[in-house]
Parts: sequence; structure tokens; C-alpha cells
Amino acid sequence: MNTGTALITGGRTGLLGQALVQVMQSEGFNVLTPGRDELDLFDARQVEYTIRKNNIDLVINTVAYTLVDQAEENQEKAFRLNRDLPGILGQVCRENNIGLTHYSTDYVFNGKKNTPYSTEDAPSPLCVYGRSKLAGEELLMRNPWDGLLILRSAWLFGPFKTNFVSRMIQMAESGRPLNVIHDQLGSPTCTLDLARYSLELVKKETCGLFHVVNKGQASWCELASEALMSAGLSNRVNPVSSGEYPQQAKRPPYSVLDTSKFSMVTGITPRPWVHALREYIFQIH
Ligand SMILES: NC(=O)c1ccc[n+]([C@@H]2O[C@H](COP(=O)([O-])OP(=O)(O)OC[C@H]3O[C@@H](n4cnc5c(N)ncnc54)[C@H](OP(=O)(O)O)[C@@H]3O)[C@@H](O)[C@H]2O)c1
Repeated sequence: MNTGTALITGGRTGLLGQALVQVMQSEGFNVLTPGRDELDLFDARQVEYTIRKNNIDLVINTVAYTLVDQAEENQEKAFRLNRDLPGILGQVCRENNIGLTHYSTDYVFNGKKNTPYSTEDAPSPLCVYGRSKLAGEELLMRNPWDGLLILRSAWLFGPFKTNFVSRMIQMAESGRPLNVIHDQLGSPTCTLDLARYSLELVKKETCGLFHVVNKGQASWCELASEALMSAGLSNRVNPVSSGEYPQQAKRPPYSVLDTSKFSMVTGITPRPWVHALREYIFQIH
């Protein structure tokens, strides 16, 4: 599919959703982003009516319960948004024979590996958020169709909404101390790159599970240091261990994702996260 009409859930306020809207529109797609007051995503009949009325070719679902720590105490809400919602959207898209691109996370892994996780590796989440996202993947994969794409990504930063990188810069600028975890390694990823790479997969009319992240790896501490350096700030970033910085949800110590399946299908090697980070920071600064 090279053009058409896409319904992007979370497209009005979400970190990734807004990046997708910008990229899809610039690629000539007609984009719909109904707000909560206009469309109840949990109402399958309403979703189906919207799809038919607007001749929608593709639904892109970025709506999720993304508060990783709060999910530990809001299990029901996390599963409703991260498992039940993709289940409903999947059923409607499958019955109407249209595409669904759905996002998942590196937190489906337990981090016991020390080489990048491929789509063939067995997930084993450590926290409620990861379990609820995995449950969403599994529900969709129970009845797959040739329009279904599930894209796992990680550690997102980008324009339009506060994120880890913008928060670090804001804290440094206000002179607050920066104690940042150094013993969790992942794949920092720019939302605009993820949106572009997602669209490449859509254009290939491929389906299934993919890992889509920028190239390279970093700890949260390295990501913060690089962000500050790019922003011309010389604040010290104090490395702390996960043990010294207790969080409600347990995170994988290592969750770098292997994108070779994505590269094989699209012919694209994702650019290094450092390049994407600098471009983002130069644009906001
Ligand atoms: N952020 C990351 O680092 C990261 C990493 C890996 C994977 N992912 C995955 O990537 C996807 C996008 O994440 P994100 O960071 O862009 O999420 P986000 O910024 O938290 O956006 C979530 C969106 O969902 C909307 N939403 C929440 N509850 C809703 C409801 N009941 N009805 C309608 N809309 C609702 C929110 O609207 P309001 O603003 O109105 O609440 C917001 O637009 C998710 O699937 C996430 O699991 C994210």
C-alpha cells in the first residue's frame, strides 16, 4: 500500500501517534485521528462504522497504557488497553480485510541474554506492563491475517510530547541533579524514524512480527549524557544502579533488539540512535 486512508489511534496526543501523523501525511496518506469524544475504540461497531464510512485502508494503533510503574497497581487498566483493545481492533480489521499495525515493546523480554533479541527469542516479561503488552500480541497472533503487523520498539524519544530525553534536558537546564540508571541496556529510538520504518513495512505489504529500533545500544545514563552533550549542557550525569534507584516495575537489564528481519524485508539498515538524537535535539534547541 503506497497511499490511502489511515486511522491512527493516539494520533492527537501520543508520542509515537503524532510522529506517525506527520510522516504519513507527508507521504500523501489521508489521516484520521478521532478523539476519545468522537470514537469509543472499545466499541467494535463504532470502529467498524468509522472504517466503512471513511474508506479506511489501515488502522495504526498506538494507544496503550504506557505508565510502566503505575501498571503494577493498575493491572486491570493496563490489560484493558494493552490486551483487550488490540483484540477488538484486530477483530474488526480482520473482518473488514484491512491492515492493522500495532506496537509492542522490548519489555516483553526478561533481559537474561547479552546479545540482541530477535523476533524468534521467547518472551518472558518481568512486569505487568510487559505482560499486558505480550498478551496483546498473543491475542492478535491467535487469528492472524495478511494485514497484521506487530512492531516491537523501545526507549522512544522525539518531538510533540515529553519523553525521557526532553525530561533530562529540562532537569539539567533547571539545575536539578541527574541520577540515571547505568545497568539497563536498550535500543534508544526516534519516533520519527520508527514512523518512517513502519511505513516502509506497510508499503511492502508484509505481515507478522518485527523489531524496529534505531541502530546501536545504550544505557539510560549514556542516553542522558549524549542528550545533554548534544544540547550543549555540561551538567554531570551521576550513574546509579537499578538497586540504588528502586522502581515499582522490574525492567530487563538488557533489551537491545535485533532488527535483521526488518532489514531483510525492507532493505533498510536503521540509522544509529546517536544521529537521530542529535537531529531531534538540534531541532528543539
Ligand atoms: N514510549 C516508549 O518508550 C515505548 C517503548 C516501546 C514501545 N512503546 C509502544 O509504542 C506505542 C506508543 O507509545 P507512546 O509512548 O507513543 O504512548 P503515549 O505517548 O503514552 O500515547 C498513548 C496514547 O494513547 C491514548 N489513550 C490512552 N488511553 C486511551 C483510551 N482509553 N482511549 C483512547 N485513547 C487513549 C493517549 O491519549 P491521552 O493523551 O488522551 O491520554 C495517547 O494518545 C505503545 O504501544 C507503547 O506500548 C513505547
